Amino acid sequence: MAQKVWGGRFQEDTDTLVHRFNASIGFDCRLYAQDIEGSIAHCRMLAKQSIIDEEEALEIIEALGEIKREIERGDLSFENEYEDIHSLIEAVLIDKIGVVGEKLHTGRSRNDQVVLDTRLCTRDAVQSVIDLIKKTQLALISLAEDNFDLIMPGYTHLQRAQPVLLAHHLHAYNEMLKRDRERFEESFKRVNVLPLGSAALAGTTFDLDREMVAKELGFDSISQNSMDAVSDRDFALEFLFNASVLMMHLSRLSEELIIWSTQEFDFITISDAFCTGSSIMPQKKNPDVPELIRGKTGRVYGHLISLLTTMKGLPLAYNKDTQEDKEPLFDAIDTVKICLGVISRFLGAISFNGNRLKEAAEKGFLVATDLADYLTLKGMPFRKAHEIVGEMVLFALEQKKELADLTLEELKGFSRQIKQDVYEWLDPLASVKKRNTPGGTSPEIVKKNLERARQELGT
Ligand code: ARG
Repeated sequence: MAQKVWGGRFQEDTDTLVHRFNASIGFDCRLYAQDIEGSIAHCRMLAKQSIIDEEEALEIIEALGEIKREIERGDLSFENEYEDIHSLIEAVLIDKIGVVGEKLHTGRSRNDQVVLDTRLCTRDAVQSVIDLIKKTQLALISLAEDNFDLIMPGYTHLQRAQPVLLAHHLHAYNEMLKRDRERFEESFKRVNVLPLGSAALAGTTFDLDREMVAKELGFDSISQNSMDAVSDRDFALEFLFNASVLMMHLSRLSEELIIWSTQEFDFITISDAFCTGSSIMPQKKNPDVPELIRGKTGRVYGHLISLLTTMKGLPLAYNKDTQEDKEPLFDAIDTVKICLGVISRFLGAISFNGNRLKEAAEKGFLVATDLADYLTLKGMPFRKAHEIVGEMVLFALEQKKELADLTLEELKGFSRQIKQDVYEWLDPLASVKKRNTPGGTSPEIVKKNLERARQELGT
């Protein structure tokens, strides 16, 4: 066990199990770059404020750079003897440059240091997630454009409802991802606040220039209450919430892709490179990728609930409980990033079976609403038209025919207002073309929506 950064007051060594229990080095080691970046900024500021000497600062900064390179080369392992990444880096620094290294922690506590590191890490993650969402949006838009002519059933209750353009269906997911992206973008300003300078909880007696550190590290603002700053984890919760909603959307899309790839639906074919087989059933080709995305959604939700629960009873200010923020946050970051990376490639690996989609859109009375609209246009109140078309559907069902297969005589039997032009209302393409209200599925509207979506992404 290495010497503790807080050893002075203690007369006994820490119990080995307690040391292991207390330590976070096993997972916070991934914050090494942020920790060093933060320390360098802090050190520069200490020198500028004449709290330490310029030469001392240079020596510390050089040694910190060396430590970073050693970690990256794998020359410095994250020994379990250290409590956390902050203690490890400080210990190695002191090992390297002796007493000068002992000055780095002036006016700072691990309490503000750890929030700084976690904020820097979350800030990077927010940026990467935004980029990956954009990539996924582009994949969706391309898929919609490439299959623009395809018509498919739109569903409610997973029952065929009305014909829609496949592109309209795909654009719906673009809208969800757009909101997700906006949520992450808006969260940025709340993540991007400098907590350093709060010290343990009450601020510090040293004349720190917090604005300088904020500027150096690219923060938009500095925290205004030291007690809040060291104990607040809202930024991590916000990331987890935004990640949860995003995963929910990816999971819904995945669910559809899974259904569409079944033999029962047969709407899509997935390229072999994105499927897996069975160890016993030679014929199987399984959609593991969307299944895993759907599955991983649960663990991201779990992380949100886990951190919310960790936070709910904490008195001000720092409590060790908040060390429990890291594993959920890190895992959510990794999960969301890989899911977005995989789905954006997966979308390029599916092809639509256009004939199956069309066939499905032609069967199941999907134009029944159009027929009711037709009668309404001829002067019948909609509620009445609805009832009559319901009877027509019943009749067609008994005849084992679709509405478009009924003869004009048969149709007229239900209303004398029906004329030859009714057939223009019984075709899925005509149905789609008529839905021209903003947000509707007409090719004209959908084309504009896809163009706007591209514009918004700057492509
Ligand atoms: N490893 C700790 C964490 O992640 C660092 C802060 C420790 N502070 C303390 N007062 N024990 O929260």
